[in-house]
Amino acid sequence: MEKKIWIHSNLEDFNRLVAANAADLLAQAIQEQGYANFLLSGGSTPKGVYQALASDRFRRLVDWSEVHFFWGDERCVPPDDENSNFKMAFEVLLRNVPADPRKTHRIKGELAPNESAEDYRQLLADLAPAGMSWPIFDVALMGLGEDGHTASLFPGARHPDEGIYPVIPVTAQYQDRPAHRVTLTPLALNTSRNVIFLVTGESKALALQKALSDEEDLERIPVQRIRPAAGNIIWHTDSTAAKYIHQD
Ligand code: 6PG
Repeated sequence: MEKKIWIHSNLEDFNRLVAANAADLLAQAIQEQGYANFLLSGGSTPKGVYQALASDRFRRLVDWSEVHFFWGDERCVPPDDENSNFKMAFEVLLRNVPADPRKTHRIKGELAPNESAEDYRQLLADLAPAGMSWPIFDVALMGLGEDGHTASLFPGARHPDEGIYPVIPVTAQYQDRPAHRVTLTPLALNTSRNVIFLVTGESKALALQKALSDEEDLERIPVQRIRPAAGNIIWHTDSTAAKYIHQD
């Protein structure tokens, strides 16, 4: 596992350079295997990156018709709800690039959490390579919460099924966001080829410091559970979020 940390001086550079990094990795995957599995993050941080990817500068670098879109987590709300991670990504990115609707694999937030998790487990299994129960994500975009969560893996005792299933239902209070969610687990995330974390803003500085700390606390800092064994972790941050990070 190779780890890289980028500290960008402003949000414009952050969005532009994350888009360049993701577009390059997607194009590489398509060139190598004819398709790319792209796992999208929810929350607000990725919005500027999705806008950059859909811009003239980056849109043309990727054959979007060969990209399979997945989500790392979803709030249990309908796909047209303002809180839907699918809605944000669809409106900002997917409908602005020549994506193949048959390759848009959203988590069905309109279903009850358990039903939605089971539905997505089946979808991932149907798209998995031989011998696996989920696809290998070529690029997995992930966020970081102020409490150290990522996707919908929140601090506290781990869900008993986290080590058994690639997708689980969770209930978690975070800010004013919907509590009932569905999330991929480290089981499915840690086989990714490239995990790109998106972390900006001073409010994330402490969480980022703990995320990158050698002091392991997998229950209280869930983001530490994301360790792609054979993949790369790329941290894209801005100077305010990285104020406690000292690069050697
Ligand atoms: C969600 C996200 C979540 C998000 C972090 C950071 O559904 O809310 O998947 O894990 O990435 O909470 O969110 P912001 O980018 O809004 O700070």
